[in-house]
Amino acid sequence: MEAKIRLENITHSFKETGLVLNGISLHVNDGEFVSIIGPSGSGKSTIFQTIGGLLKPEGGDIFLEGRRINGETGNISYMPQQASLLPWRTVLNNVLLAQELAGRTDESEVRTWLAKVGLSGYENAYPHQLSGGMKQRVAFIRALLSPQPIMLLDEPFSALDEFTRFDMQKWLLAIWEEKRKSVLFITHNIEEALFLSDRIVLLSPRPAKVIKEFKVPLNRPRTDRLLLDDSFLQLKREIYGAMKEGETHESH
Ligand SMILES: Nc1ncnc2c1ncn2[C@@H]1O[C@H](COP(=O)(O)OP(=O)(O)OP(=O)(O)O)[C@@H](O)[C@H]1O
Ligand SMILES: [Mg+2]
Repeated sequence: MEAKIRLENITHSFKETGLVLNGISLHVNDGEFVSIIGPSGSGKSTIFQTIGGLLKPEGGDIFLEGRRINGETGNISYMPQQASLLPWRTVLNNVLLAQELAGRTDESEVRTWLAKVGLSGYENAYPHQLSGGMKQRVAFIRALLSPQPIMLLDEPFSALDEFTRFDMQKWLLAIWEEKRKSVLFITHNIEEALFLSDRIVLLSPRPAKVIKEFKVPLNRPRTDRLLLDDSFLQLKREIYGAMKEGETHESH
């Protein structure tokens, strides 16, 4: 079967920075959760911008379900690094926005999912009345319920404290395991990537290339206990080792 999304040898440079993406190839299969990990400034968000069509890559191709979409917008639901709710719209209307843009709204579906993430009673609240974690949940539900076949999540939890972050990860998993939408997730946290993903793509420092891919053969549904599991810790060591090695190669 065609991959949901496939990047083939994507290259991109910025005038100010020079080469940022150095031949990135990766894919996400239908219903798969794939994480990209890499150091800060390596080019992760730039990869998302090329997939979302905000940037046209200099070289290489991007395929959505087999169709080439270089430079095309509107194909992807995207949750950017900073939650981007419209302050003048209520929670309900912020989530409905993505569906409105696609010309297909389902208010009862939106209400159901808001309730599942603990936001019933907040449908008519405005973003400034919500905590950081609640805003993230609204932005996530918006991405989840938009009609596009794949979600890009760019470090959605990096601004949250450790406790809230872990709650959000567990919550994201529960929701995702129910809906199984294809996800490409950016993080620089190895543990987060392991806990959530089916597969992890490790990037080098800038200019980014794929150093290695790791399958995460851990059973679902995943629980807290997994974090202390031998296989989990073994994979964590392996990825950490590969990451260190990637950095060393870069500096020689
Ligand atoms: N529009 C732009 N114009 C010029 N340079 C840019 C632009 N966008 C990103 N860059 C540069 O490209 C490099 C990669 O940036 P990018 O935002 O993709 O990194 P990242 O891996 O997402 O980092 P972080 O983990 O900190 O979010 C950085 O050096 C950045 O300065
Ligand atoms: Mg980024």
